[in-house]
Amino acid sequence: MLNAQDKVTVIGAGTMGMGIAHVAAIAGHEVYLYDRDPKAIQKALEKIQYFLNRSVEKGRMDDAQAKAIFGKLYAIENLESVSDSRLIVEAIVENLEIKQDLFQKLEGIVADDCILASNTSSLSISAIAGGLKNPSRFIGLHFFNPAPLMKLVEVIPAVQTDEAIKSSSFQLMENWGKLPVYAKDTPGFIVNRVARPFYSEALRILEEGLANELTIDTAMKEIGGFKMGPFQLMDFIGHDVNFKVTETVWKSFYHEPRYKPSFTQKNLVAAGYLGKKSGKGFYDYTSDTPPDQQMKIERAILQPLFDRIIALLINEACDAAFWGVGSEEAIDTAMQYGVNYPKGLLAWGKEIGWDKIKNTLNELHTIYREERYRPSPYLIKV
Ligand SMILES: NC(=O)c1ccc[n+]([C@@H]2O[C@H](COP(=O)([O-])OP(=O)(O)OC[C@H]3O[C@@H](n4cnc5c(N)ncnc54)[C@H](O)[C@@H]3O)[C@@H](O)[C@H]2O)c1
Repeated sequence: MLNAQDKVTVIGAGTMGMGIAHVAAIAGHEVYLYDRDPKAIQKALEKIQYFLNRSVEKGRMDDAQAKAIFGKLYAIENLESVSDSRLIVEAIVENLEIKQDLFQKLEGIVADDCILASNTSSLSISAIAGGLKNPSRFIGLHFFNPAPLMKLVEVIPAVQTDEAIKSSSFQLMENWGKLPVYAKDTPGFIVNRVARPFYSEALRILEEGLANELTIDTAMKEIGGFKMGPFQLMDFIGHDVNFKVTETVWKSFYHEPRYKPSFTQKNLVAAGYLGKKSGKGFYDYTSDTPPDQQMKIERAILQPLFDRIIALLINEACDAAFWGVGSEEAIDTAMQYGVNYPKGLLAWGKEIGWDKIKNTLNELHTIYREERYRPSPYLIKV
């Protein structure tokens, strides 16, 4: 089991690597930060410094504590320097061959008891581990953005992972103040799989012309209590990123119709309308007045939109439970702490009533005759 005296290495100093390094330093470890681009490391350190300064300003820590945390971060220029690490967390580009190549190099550098972990969102943990001489020390540690704020970490054992590595990684994440959950090594793990209908069903409703984006967003916020509606959230995540995740999950599930990507979103990506970061997505962000996301719309219009999207989300959570992607508790925790859902979806299903969820799905199935609306076996049995 690792303790705070053990050195941790984070490889990839982009959005996620920066956050993970920050978390590990707060937990008391000395942290080596490596990136193939030295400028990325400098930028990451500047940003961590900025966040620490803000924590001091807000009274969350004193100056000495912030300095001590920052003093634990070391920019590393070559991989050989990480030889005394007990844990390596990789957060580089999402590419199987490049990740395998990196871990093969690392195997020749670190000691036999160093845990090797990937923060991949969509690649198979077992496939990355498959390139190693000793895959039993390999595990997925999937943090959420921004890593210092989001409590969830999906802990994903590969089929090759040793039991002791599994439990000590889980324990370590708890020691880091995180909320870890075990997830099966299947496409999208828990969160990126169960969240798909939030986007895809909203897109379908829009494509059918049943409601516009503002009405659907309002339904999910006002009736469901979601912090952002689906279109607002897709604009925020970026359509390039969100479309890619949907497409990867769909392809990885051998074109399962529930995950089918949307042409509307594909066209936004092709047009360069990537959302907030490009100034335009479903909404326009170029004017001084932000898009009005709070409209007064009659509940009678909003309710069926919410009922449809939540039924598909709950069905997806039920299916993840049915296939053992996570325990029921893990699935509910994951959606609350990985993507800030107001309630766990299985608890929500129970509250709404399983029969109501089944009826909504059956009605949709009767109209569309599409497999995407088939109730999960979990719902049939419950
Ligand atoms: N961004 C998210 O919301 C998010 C959330 C969870 C997981 N992830 C996963 O985390 C990983 C990193 O994502 P990100 O958003 O931080 O990407 P990013 O593009 O912000 O950062 C990636 C960094 O890795 C560096 N890099 C690329 N190849 C490298 C190599 N071979 N060796 C060393 N450094 C290399 C790049 O220079 C870059 O600084 C990906 O696997 C992604 O799927 C991302």
